[in-house]
Amino acid sequence: MDILETRVDTNSEDYKANYEAMEKRVATLREELRKAREDRSEKAFSRHTEQGKLPVRKRLEMLLDPGSPFLEVAPLAAWGMYDKRVHGAGIVGGVGVVEGREVMINANDAMIKGGTIYPLGVKKSLRLQQIAMENRLPCVNLIDSGGAFLPLQSEIFPDAQHGGRVFYNQAWMSKMGIPQVTAVMGLCTAGGAYIPAMSDYVVQVRKTGAIFLGGPPLVKAATGEEVTSEELGGVDVHCRQSGVSDFLAESDEDAIHMVRQIVRRLPKVPKLPLDRRESRPPLYDPKELYGIVPQRLSKPYDVREVIARIVDGSEFLEFKPLYGSTLVCGFAYLHGYQVGILGNNGVLFPESAKKATQFIQLCDRDSIPLVFLQNINGFIIGKDYEASGITKDGHKMVAAVSLARVPKITMMLGGSFGAGNYAMCGRAYSPRFLWMWPHAQTAVMGGEQAADVMITVKNDQLIRAGEESLPPEQAEALKQAMVENSEEESHAYYSTSRLWDDGVIDPAQTRDVIGLSLAATQNQTDLDPYGYGVFRM
Ligand code: COA
Repeated sequence: MDILETRVDTNSEDYKANYEAMEKRVATLREELRKAREDRSEKAFSRHTEQGKLPVRKRLEMLLDPGSPFLEVAPLAAWGMYDKRVHGAGIVGGVGVVEGREVMINANDAMIKGGTIYPLGVKKSLRLQQIAMENRLPCVNLIDSGGAFLPLQSEIFPDAQHGGRVFYNQAWMSKMGIPQVTAVMGLCTAGGAYIPAMSDYVVQVRKTGAIFLGGPPLVKAATGEEVTSEELGGVDVHCRQSGVSDFLAESDEDAIHMVRQIVRRLPKVPKLPLDRRESRPPLYDPKELYGIVPQRLSKPYDVREVIARIVDGSEFLEFKPLYGSTLVCGFAYLHGYQVGILGNNGVLFPESAKKATQFIQLCDRDSIPLVFLQNINGFIIGKDYEASGITKDGHKMVAAVSLARVPKITMMLGGSFGAGNYAMCGRAYSPRFLWMWPHAQTAVMGGEQAADVMITVKNDQLIRAGEESLPPEQAEALKQAMVENSEEESHAYYSTSRLWDDGVIDPAQTRDVIGLSLAATQNQTDLDPYGYGVFRM
């Protein structure tokens, strides 16, 4: 493989300005993550700890193997929504290492409204389950939840992708042989009660842990009966009488210890036989990515400079470098895994789409995971390209991306617009993981373009009706409003808040995040047979 030579001048004014701008964005990201992890009200903290319960992050720390990495998923879910305090949508989740094996962890944060489930909390739980199912990861649930957040119950309850789906998935995971271990670490009501009930193994903590379909407040309201939590659903009820729980723990610490013991004895599963070598760092400092990435998304830069800072030894075997050059394709090793990388260097032309289709087929046939580095405005448009069948070539790429069976990881480095988002494995194309850089944006098209389209449509209507086209100041006001709206709605934080991605990351951590994502995919060995539908030629 060839070593990628950098052309970046780290002394240039542009580089320094870019670096400074990205440093600021990363500092903002760190602060938002800190707030999401730590900002809890004094009242909630003392209520939680006086009951003898450990904070959710402490539980997590004790559960994970010391010093092991935790690939946190959607830590900024619900960012800026509700009362702006439902950090992480009230759930801490992600892939961690317990007793030497990767597991999916879903833990309620009871310091946020008693661990009740908000609409985005449901969406996050479903995403965590989807990752577990696609990657065959055993699940560990640390449950401490009052069930549905009642003021928003209509957004949680009745629909196909609402609360009931969580338990439906649990039944399927059990059938699929994906073990589910649940520790009951608080008063688990209604939806909170079904998670342990649907699990394979249940550990319940004495005094603080309880399970009931209707908690004491509901029982009192419905029947007038006054009953304590322990009498209704404590360990004496569920470990002795009902048989809902399998293991009795004396404290949070004890429960975590038991969960670790259960995970330790789970059957070992074979791993996907991927081509793996010893990991080597890149030759260039990943932090240089700060200076390489222009501040304006529209300004082009060479994606090879990114590849050079994320792959082992900065070595890259480029596929068809002279053909369809707006899409860079090639083979590399990343944290020791062989990967096929597709990175944008401009809009997609017919040749780039055809090259991608062939490249994806090769990687898929040879069991090489795919890494998509998205920075894409879309496909080329215009009379000649329509006539040459750009839509048909786009179809080939979209079909290949849809049907490839190997793990796909997507990283949004910049713009992710239009059908380019689809062809480069956007969320709808089931990448096993999808991450974003802090300045990345995703939308059908940029705000200015969208405004120009709408102004043209409006003017055409007016002219058809025999009227004058929009006066310039009205057109400008329309444009301004659309641009502002689009800027807000295409922003990385807006996306991550709604779980359109798995998290916003520091660009300098790109290599490690992709490496951990790849490591989490290895349990899934049951890939569909290799094959594609019919390519339109
Ligand atoms: N929906 C909305 N908010 C809820 C809630 C629910 N189901 N359950 C609790 N909360 C809120 C409380 O209003 C309180 O909000 P505040 O901090 O703004 O005052 C916060 O969560 C903490 O509740 P609190 O009762 O003070 O804490 P706790 O640790 O003593 O008890 C619960 C937590 C969840 C066990 C307890 O509040 C409870 O039993 N809630 C009712 C659960 C229920 O019946 N759910 C039915 C769902 S279908």
